[in-house]
Amino acid sequence: MDFPQVFSDGESYIFVLFDQFACTAMQFFVDTADLDEIREANDMGVLDGVTTNPSLVKDEGNVDFHEHVFKICEIVDGDVSAEVTATDFDGMMEEAHQLHQIHGNVVVKIPLIKDGIKALRALDEEGIETNCTLCFSPTQALLAAKAGADYISPFLGRIDDISSDGMGLIEEIVQIYDNYAFDTDILAASIRHPTHVKRAALAGADVATMPFETLLNLLDHPLTDRGLERFLDDWQDYKEARKAEAGLA
Ligand code: E4P
Repeated sequence: MDFPQVFSDGESYIFVLFDQFACTAMQFFVDTADLDEIREANDMGVLDGVTTNPSLVKDEGNVDFHEHVFKICEIVDGDVSAEVTATDFDGMMEEAHQLHQIHGNVVVKIPLIKDGIKALRALDEEGIETNCTLCFSPTQALLAAKAGADYISPFLGRIDDISSDGMGLIEEIVQIYDNYAFDTDILAASIRHPTHVKRAALAGADVATMPFETLLNLLDHPLTDRGLERFLDDWQDYKEARKAEAGLA
């Protein structure tokens, strides 16, 4: 293990930390292709990106896929994942190039299959950003990182759905990537509720992508609602008392 360099300016010490000690805040992405939801999330000022997939695009009805991705990219100043639907190397590369042309924010989503690994490597060499999707095991995540994926998307909720441990997978990937200082960002996906977000943050995932509703649910607490109600009632009483005092004076 390397240690931080230490410099002395005579009065204080400045610790210059190496990259592995640097820490950035967890990023929040919304997992939707709904433009109104993306706008509303973006207006909150905490949105770092968007993930889409073919099912989410289908939910938008009769839209042109590429035009729709462009519209999303114009709303959010961050990475926007758009997925290829080919399953062979040449097809994935062709779609990846088309998606990459749409907007500078586009990150090409590639499925975690054999030709996908090949495509991740080739796209990395071309400098095209990628999000490796449909990850359900630590060894899949290891392969994706070795192939140069920019993001790996472990699907927490779908693992929990089959009575397995989605969060355990995130924890293992965090450890494996730390062991070898991989640059690939861990994007906790298929998030279903705030506890998933909390535990992904505790495990050290770089990004959480969630439905818009889950982003709003992060705000929910009955004591906040009750506390605010009491503050507002007391404020009203205070104002009325002041008014009455002024009337008497
Ligand atoms: C991530 O990029 C996927 O689009 C998404 O999180 C899948 O979530 P789901 O399991 O709720 O469909």
